[in-house]
Amino acid sequence: MKKILLILFAAVMAMAACESKKPAADIEKKVDETLAQLSLQEKIKLIHAQSKFSSAGVPRLGIPTFWTSDGPHGIRPDVLWDKWRQADHTDDSCTAFPALTCLAATWNTEMAALYGKSIGEEARYRRKDVLLAPGLNILRHPLGGRNFEYMGEDPYLTGRMAVNYIQAVQRNKVAVCVKHYALNNDEIHRHTANVVVDDRALYEIYLPAFKAAVQEGGAWSVMGSYNLYKDQHCCHNQYLLNDILKGEWGFDGAVISDWGGCHDTDQAITNGLDLEFGTGTNGLNVEAKNPYDKYYLALPYQRKIEAGEYGTDELDDKVRRVLRLMYRTSLAENRPNGSFTSPEHFAAARRIGAEGIVLLKNEGGLLPVKEAQSILVVGENAIKKMTVGGGSSSLKTLHEITPLQGIREAWPEAQIVYERGYVGDPGNVFDGVSTGQDLQETRTPDQLIADAVSAAAKADVVFFVGGLNKSKYQDAEDSDRASFGLPYGQDAVIEALADANPNLVVINISGNPVGMPWASKVPVILQDWYLGSEAGRSLADVLTGKVNPSGHLPFTIPVEMEDGPVTTASQYPGIPREDSNLLDEYYSEGVYVGYRWYDTQGTAPRFAFGHGLSYTTFEFGEPRLSAKTLAGAGFWPADVRSDTQTGKGLTITLSVRNTGHVAGAEVVQLYITDEEASVDRPAKELKGFAKVFLEPGQRADVSFHIDPRDLAFFDAEKHGWTAEAGTFMAQIGASSQDIRQAISFELK
Ligand code: BGC
Repeated sequence: MKKILLILFAAVMAMAACESKKPAADIEKKVDETLAQLSLQEKIKLIHAQSKFSSAGVPRLGIPTFWTSDGPHGIRPDVLWDKWRQADHTDDSCTAFPALTCLAATWNTEMAALYGKSIGEEARYRRKDVLLAPGLNILRHPLGGRNFEYMGEDPYLTGRMAVNYIQAVQRNKVAVCVKHYALNNDEIHRHTANVVVDDRALYEIYLPAFKAAVQEGGAWSVMGSYNLYKDQHCCHNQYLLNDILKGEWGFDGAVISDWGGCHDTDQAITNGLDLEFGTGTNGLNVEAKNPYDKYYLALPYQRKIEAGEYGTDELDDKVRRVLRLMYRTSLAENRPNGSFTSPEHFAAARRIGAEGIVLLKNEGGLLPVKEAQSILVVGENAIKKMTVGGGSSSLKTLHEITPLQGIREAWPEAQIVYERGYVGDPGNVFDGVSTGQDLQETRTPDQLIADAVSAAAKADVVFFVGGLNKSKYQDAEDSDRASFGLPYGQDAVIEALADANPNLVVINISGNPVGMPWASKVPVILQDWYLGSEAGRSLADVLTGKVNPSGHLPFTIPVEMEDGPVTTASQYPGIPREDSNLLDEYYSEGVYVGYRWYDTQGTAPRFAFGHGLSYTTFEFGEPRLSAKTLAGAGFWPADVRSDTQTGKGLTITLSVRNTGHVAGAEVVQLYITDEEASVDRPAKELKGFAKVFLEPGQRADVSFHIDPRDLAFFDAEKHGWTAEAGTFMAQIGASSQDIRQAISFELK
């Protein structure tokens, strides 16, 4: 009976998913009617930009100008019509939300929904039709300059967070534009790198989050990436766009080029691009005066049609997709009005920020700091405003609370002393937006350390706030990091502070794993992120214990970068070709990305994927299976939907108990191991997680459903998914290394 119910449930879910996926009939009717009225010139105008961020409407038919906007963490300030410089508008200072790395670190899909709702409302209020977000590329290498805009190293975690973010944004009748599709995993040669990856890694690691975004999130637009795959730029790529996205996945929305990502009219016509933006720029600072009529999908395309080189089938398909996007957004009925910089949005930013901070180490229970008479705060990142910078995700925010401000607010009675400790980048401007801060410093590095050390000797507790920033060669678009270790001599500052005061808390702000050679000498380490407007308050909430930390790492922090899977020049940054400016970047590590590599190799990381401590402790009870075996071994072609199940699953249930004295939340993680397979498989793969909030002493049951499809690997030869009969192990833990319970079952 139970089995029948499960099958029925799965069937209903599958039908519901297909239902929500079908383009609405009324929209299709309007698209057809509008298409029939358009002239060739009007159609051409609809498929390319007319300014940095807008494309033309059709005034005669009442179709308004169509507006896009960055980015994943807030609504970008308006730029001039045809210049990257900001327009100096007085109404575009937004709420800056935490970077997506932080969102992923919450491991809480409700936070993804809150994030999407809030940023969607901001986009709507600012009359943006497409939000150029979220970024779903996988963290392959810790030097990747844009990893802070993405959600870490695991496709399943990224996909789950993306689905909720997307649905919540689009409820505002604002489209997401999921980016950067695909294989844009580093920045250093982003316009010229041709990624060579096997199909198995492509389908298992780099595509699943995009597939979930399209099929389960229902994303209305997708942005092609700058790099190449199979020698074609990804903005017009037969394999990625026509075969996979629009073919296998049935995507009915529009493909938008990354800014300056389109390079060829014929390929743009035939290989899946629908809407061209940013030609003549690198998306950031290079800006040819943009002759929009000369865009690849502008007059050059029109002339080819007029000359009879192409018919109008491809054009009509593009226009249809763009019109569908418009009827879902700019031409939708009953659009909500949105809201901007509301108290709710700042509260959401603060809450998500605090929930994403990861307590890596807390020796002696030094945190939370309830009472302190004297606190020393050291480090540039305690005072540097960081929503400005980093590239296209840079924002102009109404306010930004720095860590130092947050700490001062949290301990109004304490004596709080600040010491700089080191000088990083005193720069304060991006795209003409300035933080207004003057961070110039004249002391020498030695003097800065000496001053910090002498202040440390007098303090009850020392908070060192450092890490990376969003300057070039740090966490920033269009360049990768210069080194894995902390920049600006911070290691020496931390070591000196550790010698001077045993009560040292190191707070690392970054969007990437960093080297922590001092980790064993420091009692407390927090992984903090770029948290936006409420950064300092989120941090102080965790330091004081107002919020019990429950963030877990969305990536592995290795001891040395060389411990990781990417170590050769052919893997990164790639091998230059002799006959062109292209490089070939070989993803020869295959599916062994992140913890899949470390756990399979048996290389201990500094801090494992999924790790995160709390001010309380949790006990995981014995897992129970709904059945010892499940039927359903088999093969599914690559076009199987990501949200359908076979109806043949089993359920694993276990209880989790808060064994400490304060309320808190644990992230219960389910990893699956295929005990014996015909191909090499990673030691474990994340297939489920749940965040459970528990009062002290409280116990709750957590259940995970496992479908045969969750057990499959991608079979490149057969081009589909194979789940082989045999024994599988479900490992349940608080990180990929901290496995608390395990139980095996059979797939038949
Ligand atoms: C970035 C995109 C961004 C676009 C528009 C490009 O440089 O890669 O992520 O949305 O510019 O600013």
